[in-house]
Amino acid sequence: MNLRPARKESHDSPATATTVADPTHGAQHVAIIMDGNGRWAKKKHLPRALGHKKGVEAVRNIVRAAGEMGINVLTLYAFSSENWSRPEDEISDLMGLLRQYIQSDIEEFVENGIKLKVIGNYKALEPDIVKLIEDALDRTAGNDRMVLAIALNYGAQDEIVRAMQNVAQAVKRGELTPEQIAPEHLNEALDTADLPPLDLLIRTSGEIRLSNFLLWQAAYSELYFTDVLWPDFDKRELQRALKSFGDRQRRFGGR
Ligand code: IPE
Ligand code: IPE
Ligand code: MG
Repeated sequence: MNLRPARKESHDSPATATTVADPTHGAQHVAIIMDGNGRWAKKKHLPRALGHKKGVEAVRNIVRAAGEMGINVLTLYAFSSENWSRPEDEISDLMGLLRQYIQSDIEEFVENGIKLKVIGNYKALEPDIVKLIEDALDRTAGNDRMVLAIALNYGAQDEIVRAMQNVAQAVKRGELTPEQIAPEHLNEALDTADLPPLDLLIRTSGEIRLSNFLLWQAAYSELYFTDVLWPDFDKRELQRALKSFGDRQRRFGGR
């Protein structure tokens, strides 16, 4: 992937900028399970839809912050393959917000060098959304400042099954024997094939589970769980998560 090195200039407060040379603490690829919109709304006696709306504002802020901090890849879990089990009106609210978000923020992606990517079976979404997504993918394909990967109709088990099907087709074509199948073949067949390894996986809202997100890719990721509800997750919270990442000792099985 042709990404420029992390930018060193910082838009942080002077204190942070002088004490931290690299605001990413070395995290190239950060993923977030953006959870807690419903509980945020409930706490404020608001309809869930408003929680999701506020959640989109948090997305906008975090995408900007991640770009400013020099994160190379930000992967956001926006709609899971299991979220179809929610009531129809909530699904329709979420799809409406997705439409609006792409339409209103595409110019900013183009201007700020953000390359959009979608993981998950997005082609099963409504045709007009698929078109919006594909136009946005085309328009941002040449950008190289940050990749924003949005997980839509994404489930890791579904992704792994689709990848296995591709590998099985290669076996069927005689390009590979079953014994030759190695992790690299799966890596190359996953939706994330062109992304660097996942360094940090964040989940908001206090739930300590992965909910079928990036199960393969998280093999050696650092995990960060916070009680903060997604609509309240801001640049400071992202900085906190990155600081925690920077304080970890990654061993990858070594010593
Ligand atoms: C995350 O917030 C948004 C999506 C899953 C689309 P939730 O809607 O799951 O909020 P909670 O977990 O009910 O608080
Ligand atoms: C995970 O959140 C999916 C997204 C954030 C898009 P959920 O709210 O769907 O997860 P569970 O149901 O609590 O595991
Ligand atoms: Mg939830």
